[in-house]
Amino acid sequence: MNLVLMGLPGAGKGTQAERIVAQYGIPHISTGDMFRAAMKEGTELGLQAKSFMDKGELVPDEVTIGIVRERLSKEDCQAGLMLDGFPRTVPQAEALEQILEGLNKKIDYVINIDVDKEILMERLTGRRICKNCGATYHLVFNPPANEGVCDRCGGELYQRADDNAETVQNRLDVNIQQSQPLLDFYNEKGYLRTIDGQQDIEKVFAEIELLLGGLK
Ligand code: AP5
Ligand code: ZN
Repeated sequence: MNLVLMGLPGAGKGTQAERIVAQYGIPHISTGDMFRAAMKEGTELGLQAKSFMDKGELVPDEVTIGIVRERLSKEDCQAGLMLDGFPRTVPQAEALEQILEGLNKKIDYVINIDVDKEILMERLTGRRICKNCGATYHLVFNPPANEGVCDRCGGELYQRADDNAETVQNRLDVNIQQSQPLLDFYNEKGYLRTIDGQQDIEKVFAEIELLLGGLK
């Protein structure tokens, strides 16, 4: 099963990815997570990515495509994979086609989680993440049982550096501009499936499961 999760910042890609991975056992490949891990390690890639992410801009295509190419060549991707937040531009999508062709793979579905942009600001500024296990919460829509503490592992919850109102606004603007050409690209290829991301988290997942039920 080879999937791509698409959606504007805050649409629920990471939230649904957690559930898809738990259910289908395929690796979760998030370029945003890879950049954040590199930033934490203080590598050159991390420093480079930070300068773009802090402003809510996209990391240049050549850098992003390079890390995805390397990641997809790993053993654990052989049985399937789920990309989250990549591709985000048409050149990235074209590069992905080439990379997959080289690995003798093909995308099954591009799942577009569709949410009105008016809702996304509130989702992003209220998001909290577990420092320990990475689980995602929301202060209002998906709160932990005890404030500031992860239900799953007891870890401390934090707010992402790019989830402040100013950076969120720029992330939304940048991504809205890129998204339509990408949706057109995948629609023409017949991969695109759009899901209403304004329903409850579990309802969104139920629709994804229904879609994936026919795949092996
Ligand atoms: P990345 O980490 O990918 O962030 P993003 O695309 O901005 O998306 P998010 O992770 O913010 O949102 P999400 O859709 O995962 O939402 P979530 O599930 O957490 O990228 C960060 C940066 O890295 C980019 O800005 C860029 O600089 C760089 N980058 C990454 N990939 C790149 C690429 N390919 N090219 C170039 N640069 C790249 O949900 C959000 C909140 O809403 C949570 O609190 C959640 O609990 C809540 N929520 C989720 N679903 C629902 C629901 N159905 N109802 C109510 N609340 C919900
Ligand atoms: Zn946790």
